[in-house]
Amino acid sequence: MISSGFSKLSKEKKIDLLVENHFSNNASEMKHVIESFWHEDKLQQKQFDEFSENTLTNFYFPYGVVPTFKLNGNHYCVPMVTEESSVVAAACRSAKFWETRGGFHAKVVGTKKVGQVHFIWKGESQKLKGFFDLNKKELFEHTRPLTENMEKRGGGVLDLELVDKTTEEKNYYQMMVTFNTCDAMGANFINTVLESIAKKWEELILNEASFIEEEKDVLIIMSILSNYTPDCLVKTWVECEIDELTDPKLEMAPQLFAHKMELAVKVAELDIFRATTHNKGIFNGIDAVVLATGNDFRAVEACGHAYASREGKYKSLTKVEIVNNKFRFSLEIPLSLGTVGGLTRLHPLAKLSLKLLKNPSAEELMMVTAAIGLAQNFGALRSLVTSGIQKGHMKMHLLNILNHFGACDEEKKKALDFFKEQTVSFKAVQDFLKTQRDYH
Ligand code: MEV
Repeated sequence: MISSGFSKLSKEKKIDLLVENHFSNNASEMKHVIESFWHEDKLQQKQFDEFSENTLTNFYFPYGVVPTFKLNGNHYCVPMVTEESSVVAAACRSAKFWETRGGFHAKVVGTKKVGQVHFIWKGESQKLKGFFDLNKKELFEHTRPLTENMEKRGGGVLDLELVDKTTEEKNYYQMMVTFNTCDAMGANFINTVLESIAKKWEELILNEASFIEEEKDVLIIMSILSNYTPDCLVKTWVECEIDELTDPKLEMAPQLFAHKMELAVKVAELDIFRATTHNKGIFNGIDAVVLATGNDFRAVEACGHAYASREGKYKSLTKVEIVNNKFRFSLEIPLSLGTVGGLTRLHPLAKLSLKLLKNPSAEELMMVTAAIGLAQNFGALRSLVTSGIQKGHMKMHLLNILNHFGACDEEKKKALDFFKEQTVSFKAVQDFLKTQRDYH
């Protein structure tokens, strides 16, 4: 057992203690594994160490790109960080497919962020409403010193609203605050402003002469941004004539392909089991770009899934429409992203990603990210309704299986050749390697 005080130890001491406690049989080997992933540049490593706490080493993920991605008539090279084989390949395939069919399109619908002060107040709601209306301006003014810089960039607090939740919970209210945080994701900015508003609100109530003792006794529960940002929204789509959905690789008539795509999305609208997997596929793409650009993928995922339930039922985030022989495939999703602040400018690879994307604004990054999500979903559905997912998936997974069995380069080369025509499975690869190794 590691006793308290672990966080105060030096990194080296932490590692020693850890391997002694958990790997007593092979401590030096495990220590070597941990240290072998340190960055050779000590300053660089220090920066990684300081991103989090109790850091021992770095955990590598593959960093890849979709080299040419056509969006709104521009070409982007899109960075993606993912460990899942076939995600980048699927995005590339969709990018190539739509390149000659007008490319991807996207537009930002809104960029509003939200925060809340949750509190309990005992009294007549109408009285509180009147008091809020009288003091709203002062609450606004109070945040000025904190919002000045953001205002210079065109952002700041957009509105303050009192929300009466007393029918759901006795004496419970919210102060709903909306923000424009420009190119920043803005979590710290929002939380700082909210805490300051909460403090001022408490003070104003306490000093209100017309309030009786009970009314002065406001209880601030908490002040925190909401990761649900339905008004920080982006739409993305691809469209073409159905007759243009021809591709020898589809091995299917365009009408049937379009129809099956439409049905596939319908299934994800009807059925939560399918909808979850369907949307997970969209996030395969979105998360990969969010990670590569140093943004918060947990926030983006939480918001996306909540948005998928906005009508009271969890369902597909994408849509297929077939009108007048035209096929349109679209995605509407809230994405709260930043291109300044946070990790975006601290992590050297996040910085590189943004450079690769030609230093986009947050709105441009929202469009690129959403479009990659759509591309990912198109790629997954395309495989699912034609050849099935395993064909491409297992081909990409083949290398992982070969590595699992410790295959050498020569064996890998032969296996890649052999499995061009064969179904890949764990057992099939094991058998193939056995024949190779027995032969020698
Ligand atoms: C796998 O990571 C994602 C898919 O299952 C998505 C889907 O089924 O739509 C292929």
